[in-house]
Amino acid sequence: MILVTGGAGFIGANFILDWLAACDEPVVNLDKLTYAGNLENLASLVRDARYGFVQGDIVDRALLDNLLAVHKPRAIVHFAAESHVDRSIRGPGEFIRTNVEGAFTLLEAARAYWSSLPSAEKAAFRFHHVSTDEVYGSLAPEAAPFAETHPYAPNSPYSASKAASDHLARAWFHTYRLPVSISNCSNNYGPFHFPEKLIPLVITSALAGKPLPVYGDGRQVRDWLYVRDHCVAIRRILAAGRAGETYNVGGDSEMSNIALIGMICALLDALRPRADGLSYARQIVHVADRPGHDRRYAIDARKIERELGWRPSETLASGIEKTVRWYLENEDWTARVQSGAYREWMTRHYGAAHG
Ligand code: NAD
Ligand code: DAU
Repeated sequence: MILVTGGAGFIGANFILDWLAACDEPVVNLDKLTYAGNLENLASLVRDARYGFVQGDIVDRALLDNLLAVHKPRAIVHFAAESHVDRSIRGPGEFIRTNVEGAFTLLEAARAYWSSLPSAEKAAFRFHHVSTDEVYGSLAPEAAPFAETHPYAPNSPYSASKAASDHLARAWFHTYRLPVSISNCSNNYGPFHFPEKLIPLVITSALAGKPLPVYGDGRQVRDWLYVRDHCVAIRRILAAGRAGETYNVGGDSEMSNIALIGMICALLDALRPRADGLSYARQIVHVADRPGHDRRYAIDARKIERELGWRPSETLASGIEKTVRWYLENEDWTARVQSGAYREWMTRHYGAAHG
């Protein structure tokens, strides 16, 4: 079996659903259930004998030791993190605790467990650390996309905490030979994306008649990857990736935020026109920029394509359309998410109009 951390979050939940659709190897999901953890994302697995859930914190070493001893996973896929840049700017402490101390604790527990395994299982073991392209910092408009050799230059408390965890993961391989692999991925989007992040925020706010907040001039560029493509990439790395290696994962889909918001508004105009017949683009408002806002990310994913034969299957156009349709068909999911801590955060961050 495999142990997944953070499996109740956006990518972790998609990963578990994708994993169990692709194979019968059991999964145990360890998740603290912070505001971002939503077990409803995995409701379809409640009676599935291949799936187990444990509520707990990756900083809790005793819990980790017990979990590893009881379940004896052949791999750990580490998603659990605080993941929202704006939250990290307002309150970095939890990012250091979970993303750095949590990664350290998990690596140490994994090392102790792995050291105790018989040699065949020891050789087959894998710790996969899920990370982000944000560790590389910001790219100039014409600069080449981030390759795995790009120097680290994190600019936000979030990306600094992820960079720290990447360094720990790398060091645990080099010093202790713990079989670690790392993936650094660009911006994901798709089903179960918590509506504090740009794409689900724009879809849900548009439908609710609320402002669509664009930070600064909106010309910041991100590379977007449909979440299922990320899940497939991680499965490929687990199956055939080399220990001690980093793989950059991206969608080959760069777009400015303002263009992306325009694309979403146009889709909504076609699929769920506003009652007054006007475009959702009328709801766009420019708001204060994010402090230290990275201007551009772009990923060079040639290594994972060359070594593991992975390529994204969705284009940005096909993936965004699927995503918009998912939010239109799952408005009850959004409503339940928005009735909790999410609403408090939105009010504090953007003001009463968005709460
Ligand atoms: P998310 O915020 O949606 O989910 C994080 C999950 O981790 C939640 O279920 C939460 O309850 C859990 N968690 C948080 N702290 C925990 C702790 N101390 N112990 C146990 N569980 C805890 O995040 P996401 O967007 O799904 O991202 C998952 C991973 O992928 C993160 O490591 C993130 O850095 C990385 N990543 C995300 C993106 C993206 O675009 N979302 C892109 C590249 C990499
Ligand atoms: O690049 C990978 C990263 O992508 C992941 O590591 C992070 O976990 C994930 O949250 C995401 O980070 P971003 O900061 O790029 O995502 P976010 O959706 O917060 O913002 C995307 C872009 O949209 C960014 O340039 C900021 C802008 N934005 C965001 C929000 C929430 C706005 O203009 N307005 C908004 O209200």
